[in-house]
Amino acid sequence: MSDGNNMIRIQGAGKRYPMGAGEVEVLRGISLDVKKGEFVSVMGQSGSGKTTLMNLIGMLDSPSEGTILIDGNDITLKPQKELVGLRRRTVGFVFQQFHLIPSLTAYENVALPLVFAGEKDNGAVDIALERVGLSHRKEHKPAELSGGEQQRVAIARAIVMKPKILLADEPTGALDGTTGSMIISLLRSLAGEMTVIMVTHNRELAMLSDRIVNLVDGNIAE
Ligand SMILES: Nc1ncnc2c1ncn2[C@@H]1O[C@H](COP(=O)(O)OP(=O)(O)OP(=O)(O)O)[C@@H](O)[C@H]1O
Ligand SMILES: [Mg+2]
Repeated sequence: MSDGNNMIRIQGAGKRYPMGAGEVEVLRGISLDVKKGEFVSVMGQSGSGKTTLMNLIGMLDSPSEGTILIDGNDITLKPQKELVGLRRRTVGFVFQQFHLIPSLTAYENVALPLVFAGEKDNGAVDIALERVGLSHRKEHKPAELSGGEQQRVAIARAIVMKPKILLADEPTGALDGTTGSMIISLLRSLAGEMTVIMVTHNRELAMLSDRIVNLVDGNIAE
């Protein structure tokens, strides 16, 4: 099933969480199209639903209503079992706090998604490390790397399976300004090859993307 140029098509998606006797409505029927290879920033106040939106796109959570098409697949119709495989093939995740495994080397951390998928390395780890400029740090453990280097290892891990979508939730939140800009330049260089969605609180960094999506009161204000 093809969906033209759209990698992501969100139509009327809402998200409510049960809270005590009632519910909190976080996203209110939002619609959003993101093209293949596009680099989109998501901004909005704390609690505005940015991470919730990333979790919906990343198939980690499902909407309370509406439809979400990822590369033409309506993920709201798929059973959880199928989503696991689709997620593995389609999405890479990057987080604020890197989430590397301290006892493993950079190389081993990047290789993890291949291990979980039961796939052979075939040079993919070296290619990913080279892509983020860390070929010379393969044998370093996270504690032996700078913050920016750790985030680059995390990005290499996120792209080692060649995802169609890279989701980065405040990837520069734990880094200083200069290092943060370097990380955004790296994401910029990956866009085109894959669709990149980044959450950031930094407008200057957001300006480096193709488009800014603002979340306000559960709605999108572009
Ligand atoms: N599992 C949950 N159960 C109930 N409420 C939740 C749950 N997850 C998130 N929320 C609520 O949904 C709202 C949006 O949360 P979300 O994490 O998406 O915000 P955010 O925009 O990413 O904020 P931040 O900038 O602080 O990371 C918040 O008010 C939060 O309290
Ligand atoms: Mg968040």
